[in-house]
Amino acid sequence: MNNTEIKPDKGQKMWGGRFEAQPDEALQAINASIGIDYKMWREDIDGSIAHSSMLAECGIISVEDKEKIHAGLKQIADEIAAGKFEFKVELEDIHLNIEARLTDMIGEAGKRLHTGRSRNDQVANDFKLWTRRATTSTIKQIKDIQKVLVKRAAQHHDWIMPGFTHLQTAQPVTLGHHLLAYVEMLARDIKRLEAAYENAGDCVLGSAALAGTPYPIKRELTAKELGFNAPAGNSMDGVASRDFAMEALGALSIAAVNLSRLADEIVLWSSSQFAFARLSDDWSTGSSIMPQKRNPDAAELIRAKAAKISSASQALLMIVKSLPLTYSKDLQEDKVLTFGAFEDFWLCTVSIAQMMEKIAFNRENMRKAACFGYSTATDLADWLVRTHAIPFREAHHITGAVVKAAEQAGYAELCDMPLDELQKIDERISIEAKELLVVEASVNSRQSYGGTAPSNVLKQIEIWKAKL
Ligand code: ARG
Repeated sequence: MNNTEIKPDKGQKMWGGRFEAQPDEALQAINASIGIDYKMWREDIDGSIAHSSMLAECGIISVEDKEKIHAGLKQIADEIAAGKFEFKVELEDIHLNIEARLTDMIGEAGKRLHTGRSRNDQVANDFKLWTRRATTSTIKQIKDIQKVLVKRAAQHHDWIMPGFTHLQTAQPVTLGHHLLAYVEMLARDIKRLEAAYENAGDCVLGSAALAGTPYPIKRELTAKELGFNAPAGNSMDGVASRDFAMEALGALSIAAVNLSRLADEIVLWSSSQFAFARLSDDWSTGSSIMPQKRNPDAAELIRAKAAKISSASQALLMIVKSLPLTYSKDLQEDKVLTFGAFEDFWLCTVSIAQMMEKIAFNRENMRKAACFGYSTATDLADWLVRTHAIPFREAHHITGAVVKAAEQAGYAELCDMPLDELQKIDERISIEAKELLVVEASVNSRQSYGGTAPSNVLKQIEIWKAKL
């Protein structure tokens, strides 16, 4: 739904008291936000219930009026949930749409709801509430991805694949280790989102237009009712600030970039050149002219979504950067960016979790690739250092000569090179060293904390299983 799909009628505007003419249609179109902010109707209703409860508690409205307001708001919630609510573009936004309907329904009492608040604190509060809820559900979804990755890592804790730097074969690693790398990244994404949630803990409602209100309101009641930690300490900050959304979008951008890297690996691994993995049929798409194709569309779109999400974050920063305190209408554009970024992100989380759950890895191809490119050269250098106390730089030089000789003689792997040829380069190289040049020996040797050895990977998996 967008503003142009919601047809204006010529009803009286909520703020129309001092104007003679109706706003131009083009003004309505640029000014209205109902096409976007209807998505926070639940938060608006929750905020209004909390606000009116507090007003009654403080004796500012009567208990009867409060009950009428609550009943009306609950009915409106049912109407919206059932798709029966008529959103009107001339009522600009979700706040005025709900308030107008409430007044239609319950009359006088509906008009008292807006006592001691303004749309400025109302919108900031609804939006903050929406962002907090979205953050909570995002954290849950990221944990779901972690669970899938830990499960797949356990199944493949000792499957050998090439580890890359510069996308050049560097050293053999285990697939379990590779997958757990993402589990670590996602754990930090969760921490950043948790911090964003925590930093959005101040309740704005009751800041009113910008300066507070003369009514004897108790803002701590509203804050508590809505699950916030405390009322915001400064009404101007309350209505003017959107850094809670910037922080959430910043954290979301980083998380999206992390998912994008995994998505990119899915694209690479499922190509016929790599052939490390095959996406399940239900996560592959076909080509209209090339019947052999199995395209990783969802993974590619995750890469693109990460670009969109980070530009939403950038756009919000730019919207706010030159705004004097307090509210300016520029701030209305915060929601289309934030809602869109979260919605895109949720498509990514579901897609990644499912693709990774069902992707089939090819053990043979990965192992074969891990052997190419003289991936165990460092193992030889490390052995020379360990066994003969040769300084690493010198060991590196000897190993370089071995690689060169292997290449010239046409051996695909270092472990194919006969011992006597190895000893021609350096007579200290023994059969024990030669045996280290197979990829299994290489990964098994990397037992340092955080290293790729399958035994290490199993330990990390236990740690993650306990945490998740
Ligand atoms: N729809 C507006 C927004 O999203 C609500 C606040 C309007 N406040 C005002 N003073 N015009 O920002």
